[in-house]
Amino acid sequence: MSDKYSTSRALLERARRSLAGGVSSPFRAKLPVPLYCADARGSRLTDVDGNEYIDYALAWGPLILGHCHPELVEAMRRHAEMPINYGAQHRLEIDVAEKIQELVPCVERMTFTSSGSEAVHVTCRLARAATKRPLILRFEGHYHGWFDSILWSYRATAEQLGPAGAPLAVAGSQGQPANESQNLLIAGWNDLDALESLFARHGDQIAAVITEPILCNSGGIAPKPGFLEGLREITTRYGALLVFDEVITGFRVGLGGAQQLFGVTPDLATFGKAIAGGATLSALGGRQEILELLGNGVAFGGSFNGNPVALGCAEATIRTLSRDGGQPLRHAEQLGERLKEGIRQAAKDAALEVQVTGHGACFWVHFTSAANITNYRDTLADRRDLLDRYLRLMLDEGILLLPEGRVYLSAVHTEADVDQTLEAVRRVFAQLADG
Ligand SMILES: Cc1ncc(COP(=O)(O)O)c(C=O)c1O
Repeated sequence: MSDKYSTSRALLERARRSLAGGVSSPFRAKLPVPLYCADARGSRLTDVDGNEYIDYALAWGPLILGHCHPELVEAMRRHAEMPINYGAQHRLEIDVAEKIQELVPCVERMTFTSSGSEAVHVTCRLARAATKRPLILRFEGHYHGWFDSILWSYRATAEQLGPAGAPLAVAGSQGQPANESQNLLIAGWNDLDALESLFARHGDQIAAVITEPILCNSGGIAPKPGFLEGLREITTRYGALLVFDEVITGFRVGLGGAQQLFGVTPDLATFGKAIAGGATLSALGGRQEILELLGNGVAFGGSFNGNPVALGCAEATIRTLSRDGGQPLRHAEQLGERLKEGIRQAAKDAALEVQVTGHGACFWVHFTSAANITNYRDTLADRRDLLDRYLRLMLDEGILLLPEGRVYLSAVHTEADVDQTLEAVRRVFAQLADG
C-alpha cells in the first residue's frame, strides 16, 4: 500500500485505543482507507495527508448542498448566537413544518426527530397503533436504520436468505432478540405476486408495508413500473398502511421526494439525511388522523426534537433547494446522469462487465454479468474483488466513493468534477481490464 494515507492510518491506530473500532459508526471503518478529514468545501474534501478528493460520499448522503454552503453556514452562524435548544415551542418549527407540508404530498401532519432510525421506529409504532395489527412487512436488502425491530434481512448472504419463495428473517446483528422477527414479514422486492400471497395469508395482521421507494441502500434499484402503484393498491385493499422510507430519497430525488416523482402517495413517510443539509434532523409525516395519535396514546419523545439549530439548517436547505423551481436538485440529477452514462461508456470501451443503476443523484456501480438488477438478491452476483480494487484505485485518483460503490451527487458538483471523475474512471477501468 502506498503511504499517501499514512497520517490517516496513524490516527486510526491511535483512535483504536480510545474509540470502539476507531470510528464513530462501524460502517465508516470499511472505506478502502478510513480517512481522517482536515477540511472540505463545496464538492471537495481534503484529508489530513493533504490529499484532495471529489466527494461523492457526502457524509453518506446528507450533504445535498455540499460542504460549507454559504446559506447553511449563515443559518448556523445566526443560530449559534441564539439558544441552542428550548425543549419547548418556537416559530421555526411551524415555518419548517408548513414548508414540508406544502412540498411533500403525503404530509398532512408531521413531527421532527433526530435520526432516520428513530423516525422509522416511531413510524412503525404509529402504524401498529393506527391499525391495531402487529406485523410490519419489510423487504430484503432495504435499510431502515439499526434498531432491533427492523434490522432484518439487510446485508444477508444468499445462504442465509433462504429460498426466494419463502425468505427467512435474518438478524442484522448479534444481540438482536430473536423474537423481534415475529413482528415482521420478509419479502423480496419488486415482486407483486409474492406480496399478494403474503397478504392472502397474513393480510388481517399486517399493519404496514415499509419500503425504500428507490432501493438506494442495496444496489440503487428502481421500482419496476407499476410496483409502487401495486403496493398502494394491495395495502389499501387489506386495510394496511404504506410507508415510504424517504430518508435518502427525500429532498434528494425531488423536493416532494420519491412519492412525488412516482406519483404514489404513501400513508406515512420518513425523512432524514438531506432534509437539513447535514445537520442532525429527521422527520416523519403522513395522514392527519395517524400523526395525531402521537401524544394521544402513542408515546414518543426526544430531548433534541425540533431544536432551533437543526431546524435553521432545514429551513436554509429547503429554501436553497427550492430556488428556480427546484433547479439545484435537477442539476444534481443531470450531472449524475451524465456521470452514469460516462461510466457505462468507459466500461464498454474497457470491455468490463459493469452495470450502473439508480437515480442520477444516488446511483451504484456494479461489477456484474447480471443483465437485470431488480432486487437485493440480484446484487449478490456482484464481483466484490473488482469493486474493492476499483474503490481503492479511485481513491488514489482523488475520487471519494462509499464502500459499496454508491455515488451521491450534490447541488454543487460541477461539470468539471464529472469530467475529472470520468478521466479517472477510464484510467482505473483500463487497469482493471489488464487484470
Ligand atoms: C433509507 C434509510 N432509512 C433509515 C436510515 C437510518 O438513518 P440514520 O442513520 O439517520 O439513523 C438510513 C440511513 O442510512 C436510510 O438510508
